[in-house]
Amino acid sequence: MSNKRVLVTGGAGFIGSNLTDALIARGYKVTILDNLSTGEKENINPAAVFIKGDIKNPEDIEKCFENKIDAIFHIAGCASTIKSFDDPTMDLLTNTLGTVNMINAAIKHNVDRFEYASSMTSYGIPEKLPVKETFNTRPIAYYGITKYSGERYVLATGLRTDLPFKFNATAFRMFNVYGRRQSLTNPYQGVVSIFIGNVIRNEQVTIFGDGIQSRDYVHISDVANAWIGALENPRAYGEVFNLGSGIRISVNDLVGYILKAMNKTKKEYKIVYKDARPGDQRHMQADISKAAKLLKWKPKMKFENGMKDVMDWAKEVYGK
Ligand code: NAD
Ligand code: UD1
Repeated sequence: MSNKRVLVTGGAGFIGSNLTDALIARGYKVTILDNLSTGEKENINPAAVFIKGDIKNPEDIEKCFENKIDAIFHIAGCASTIKSFDDPTMDLLTNTLGTVNMINAAIKHNVDRFEYASSMTSYGIPEKLPVKETFNTRPIAYYGITKYSGERYVLATGLRTDLPFKFNATAFRMFNVYGRRQSLTNPYQGVVSIFIGNVIRNEQVTIFGDGIQSRDYVHISDVANAWIGALENPRAYGEVFNLGSGIRISVNDLVGYILKAMNKTKKEYKIVYKDARPGDQRHMQADISKAAKLLKWKPKMKFENGMKDVMDWAKEVYGK
């Protein structure tokens, strides 16, 4: 499909801007729709057409179709579990209504390829680990409910037989994505960059709960390979895929790892434990065999190398 145009919603944010860069590097044209609520202008690839607008607003979405769009990567969303509890209406309207609006626009403009940023929070508390795509989906965070509802809208649209064309949908249940451009200052973004930002500024690190909870961290370059590799692969149509590394790391170990890599010791560093936050899943680990089988996808970035890259970037940002 190279040389065709992909509409990337959320293309000024962490995942969306990295995916935009990877698409452009592979010869695609990109239009970005983003309201810059958490995304940043500096992240926007200059080769992309940028439309400042809101996925909650169909008139803003309409502006993206001045150029013919061949596929949509729907990535814009409220990414924070905590914000979903603080303001459930905002989370619902952004993640669920925003997705319905994007589907409506795709149908109106005959866009037959749609990839959606779903989340491992769709699972809630898994019956066992690692988690397979066939497991129950019972989200326990409001955020997980809205991400999962978006996923169902997208995949159910793919099952419709009343449309003039086949809507080829794919949902990626991403686990904890990390990499360059994940905000170092926004306490509502992912824990890897929050901790790196804390340590580089010499601030205290806060661990919510006992720190034994664990997550599966996947590097943004691997996520980009999966999304772009699936774009023209019919085996991805109508499917949902876990995107993780398959490796589980506790929050305590993550802090220890970052401190050691930055030449600090855990004993001397100020680490404060606070109550666990609502909707927090205890342990998470992806079974990635489905993506390996159907998409021939495997994460390539080793945790040590991915973390080194983020820390190098953070040092560049802070001039260290
Ligand atoms: P991010 O906050 O960096 O990116 C979200 C982008 O969407 C931002 O640029 C923001 O300005 C934009 N946006 C938000 N609301 C919008 C609206 N109403 N209209 C237009 N643009 C809007 O977060 P991220 O970590 O890059 O997450 C991107 C997506 O991936 C989110 O939908 C999130 O739910 C999902 N996701 C993230 C992870 C992760 O580990 N980061 C894992 C699974 C799923
Ligand atoms: C993250 C993403 C979410 C995505 C999900 C999929 C963000 C903000 N959240 O959710 O979009 O759908 O992965 O895997 O990007 N923690 C601390 N101290 C801190 C910050 C966090 O102890 O300062 C803990 C949290 O309580 C949690 C763990 O670290 O137990 C991970 O938190 P976080 O990165 O915020 O994300 P998730 O809730 O896993």
